[in-house]
Amino acid sequence: EKGQQQQRATQRLLVVANRLPVSAQRDGDNWDLKLSAGGLVSALLGVKQNFETRWIGWAGVNVHDEKGRMSLTESLASKGCVPVFLDDDTVDQYYNGYCNNVLWPLFHYIGLSQEDRLAGTRSLDSQFMAYKNANQLFADVVFSQYQEGDVVWCHDYHLMFLPKCLKEMDPQMKVGWFLHTPFPSSEIYRTLPMRSELLKAVLTADLIGFHTYDYARHFVSACTRILGLEGTPEGVEDQGKLTRVAAFPIGIDPERFIQALETDLVKCHIKLLRSRFEGCKVMLGVDRLDMIKGIPQKLLAFELFLEKNPEWREKVLLVQIAVPTRTDVHEYQRLTSQVHEIVGRINGRFGTLTFMPIHHLDRSLAFHQLCALYAITDVLLVTSLRDGMNLVSYEFVACQNEKKGVLVLSEFSGAAQSLGAGAMLVNPWNIEEMSIAIRDALNMPEMERKERHNHNFSHVTHHTAQAWADTFVSELNDTIVEAELRTLR
Ligand code: G6P
Repeated sequence: EKGQQQQRATQRLLVVANRLPVSAQRDGDNWDLKLSAGGLVSALLGVKQNFETRWIGWAGVNVHDEKGRMSLTESLASKGCVPVFLDDDTVDQYYNGYCNNVLWPLFHYIGLSQEDRLAGTRSLDSQFMAYKNANQLFADVVFSQYQEGDVVWCHDYHLMFLPKCLKEMDPQMKVGWFLHTPFPSSEIYRTLPMRSELLKAVLTADLIGFHTYDYARHFVSACTRILGLEGTPEGVEDQGKLTRVAAFPIGIDPERFIQALETDLVKCHIKLLRSRFEGCKVMLGVDRLDMIKGIPQKLLAFELFLEKNPEWREKVLLVQIAVPTRTDVHEYQRLTSQVHEIVGRINGRFGTLTFMPIHHLDRSLAFHQLCALYAITDVLLVTSLRDGMNLVSYEFVACQNEKKGVLVLSEFSGAAQSLGAGAMLVNPWNIEEMSIAIRDALNMPEMERKERHNHNFSHVTHHTAQAWADTFVSELNDTIVEAELRTLR
């Protein structure tokens, strides 16, 4: 047992995700590397111990010249990253098209209009082809890095074909696949024309993981209803071969935040923000500017709250950090204008010469600024219409041990299942209910705030990203690869 643990302590883990933890920008002969946004990255950054990790993925930039590709490969190597290079057309068809205009909305129950969906069907085949080709490109890079004994962990909806590509190259390879978004009800999933091919490709993995039990259940029923396979408590069975399917709720690296709060830089920033917002309660939203985050709904609820509670005007402000994302996709461009319009209207309606109720930023913050903002916030508003987990809520809780602020959390986020008892749960489609929740959160007595926060804090500090990865990889290690099974027989 001890020998096994030691062996695992140095096990090489190949983490494959579309997006590397750093995104690159060219600056002459050099590369600027910036931390990427999103839950997947913030969780995986917390996975440091127990494995020798190598990341494989796209650096968010298309490099066409050999010299540039070599220099980017070199500078990423210092971060333990190996790039996958995609060309413009692939990024357009695979990333913007199939991933973010087809799978992403479908997995989040976002209905495109019938017109948009019909228009989309014309390009669907070529996008799907690009998707499969891109997955093969990722597989080629994984294969070039792979050594016997490595474990390969594929992530997210971009790479549903990857397990199949890898197993075709080496059936002995241990391959896990984890989805960071919801897996929708099979009634929604079955509308996808390529539904069977995708499911079959994912099922070639040895272990399949989701954030919540519900997502895992939806996946298993899609396999039974669409492919006619058998669902068992362990997973999905196809002619005697079992693919393990289970829930592995993700977490963050809470220490990264807790320790940051102790640094002079963050303390200084906290002071600055406190004096800037003196006499005012601060509500906060931190989201990628994505239609799943329910930002318009959040703004409308805040507007209704100001309308109905005039005594709060000029006494509370909403800071909304909206990090631009997928800016080449039409739906995201439309959302940006929509959000700007609502923010403008509310500030016009309720602002004065000296006070603006909404501070809206179209960009991400530096880590120390974000920690300080989390720490001084009275109420965090997470209003996702659907969200795989939502780690912003976890990050907020990690930074609130002093203030014990209130978490208002959408019941449609995965986090509602883990932080539900400490948070105030809301239905983001019910604007009036949300405006009442805002009022109640601002008025919540200290005792109740403490109780709720302590519950959440204990969850966030116990269910960490490291624990998540340890559990997933150890279960993956324990699965028997089908090829091994054949030799045993
Ligand atoms: C979500 C997805 C991730 C993705 C992130 C940022 O969290 O689950 O896979 O990386 O959004 O989106 P982007 O398209 O910029 O990678």
